[in-house]
Amino acid sequence: MEVVRLAHETDFDGWREAARALRARDVAPHDVLWTVDGDGSLFAPRPPGAGGGERFTVPREFVDLSAKVILHRSDERFALLYRLLWRLQDEPSLMHIASDPDVARAQGFGREVGRAAHKMKAFVRFRETSDEDGEAYVAWFEPAHRVAEATAPFFVRRFANMRFSILTPDVCAHWDKAQLTLTPGADPADAPAADALEDYWRTYYASIFNPARLKVGAMQKEMPKRYWRNLPEAALIPELIAQAEGRTSTMVRQAPTEPSRRVVKAAIRNSRDAPWDGQAPTSLDEVATGVDHCRRCDLWRDATQGVAGEGPGRAKLLFVGEQPGDQEDLAGKPFVGPAGQVFDKALAEAGVPRTETYVTNAVKHFKHELRGKRRIHQTPNPGEVTACRWWLDAERRIIRPRVIVTLGATAGLAVFGKPTPIGKFRGRPIQLSDQAQGVVTYHPSYLLRVPDEDAKAKAYAMFVEDLKLAWKLAA
Ligand code: URA
Repeated sequence: MEVVRLAHETDFDGWREAARALRARDVAPHDVLWTVDGDGSLFAPRPPGAGGGERFTVPREFVDLSAKVILHRSDERFALLYRLLWRLQDEPSLMHIASDPDVARAQGFGREVGRAAHKMKAFVRFRETSDEDGEAYVAWFEPAHRVAEATAPFFVRRFANMRFSILTPDVCAHWDKAQLTLTPGADPADAPAADALEDYWRTYYASIFNPARLKVGAMQKEMPKRYWRNLPEAALIPELIAQAEGRTSTMVRQAPTEPSRRVVKAAIRNSRDAPWDGQAPTSLDEVATGVDHCRRCDLWRDATQGVAGEGPGRAKLLFVGEQPGDQEDLAGKPFVGPAGQVFDKALAEAGVPRTETYVTNAVKHFKHELRGKRRIHQTPNPGEVTACRWWLDAERRIIRPRVIVTLGATAGLAVFGKPTPIGKFRGRPIQLSDQAQGVVTYHPSYLLRVPDEDAKAKAYAMFVEDLKLAWKLAA
């Protein structure tokens, strides 16, 4: 029996070197015992004798998958990957046989690691502290798999102007606004106690929680209980659930004059979290999963997640906005922030039930720039709009709406393929090539920005008229 001692739990380079050497010497998988040497820390020196392997070629998808699988907490991962590597010599197409038990297991591990990274991006909550260098932010997080190091660059991009540390049991990541450094894993006691930011999160969560759309199962799937203890807003969940019924009745009574804010985290999407394989999606679930993994342009880098559309698959009316804003990016749903509130109000006045329509955006990731701690909206460029049409076109193909309403200039460009000045085109149906009729109107955020009160009221009234026209055409 050969014993391979890797330097630490995520020692991908060590595994690769040892696997190459074993493969070259024809050592069969059942003759290898994989262990992690020393304290298992990322900072332990590499044990001697692991390296020195011969070079041979393996498919790119195997290398990419291995780099993820290594981060899984299963003790089986090193042996599983070596078995796959061993088999690839005689079965070069092995990675394409999804029904093969080894391939399926490795892909399952890869998906679980992807999901853990996704949850880390969504659920890390910083607490404010200070030291001799000034303000700093610290978060404690326990990822389901060892994704902290791989996910740290996301936080660097997202919070480039903020000094922070993310402490996890595996490894800690520290950003000093210039350099990212890693130190060994920490203890929850190292994280500072509650602070004002927690109140911010609690207020935010309470304000976006929509009792009428409460689905406890879906909510727990999206925000699993294992993360609750480090989420300030989680303390509110039992109470909000308990109050949901009463609040829903109140909302129903008040609906015509006080439309609800859009819900956030109760994700209805049945996300499979599978990497998108490049085939044209054939269901809205595939669109939702694919959007979140999309790399067709660079906007995914700084966004929390891709935001697909929301609504019934057989909707007769489809709304297209520009792109998710700050709150939509966090919530994973379109039009839940300030523009969403204007939109909801106008829909209610026009007598259009939002739940019977499909609401999406031309671009599915939030484009923004950081100013201090604020994320400021940036208009997507035509290249980004074109790249993202893949998803909008898929939504159009799957839903086949009778009417498509474009909200603002970016949506007009995405749907009509050319600029459609709103003043010139609004107020009448325009035939589209896919049998749908188009209606061009203002973007709800524009209605918030018009400085003159009379002009604002006029634009809002036209917006409501356009929504009524679209609903009539869709009937
Ligand atoms: N603006 C948009 O265009 N879409 C959203 O989802 C939110 C704001």
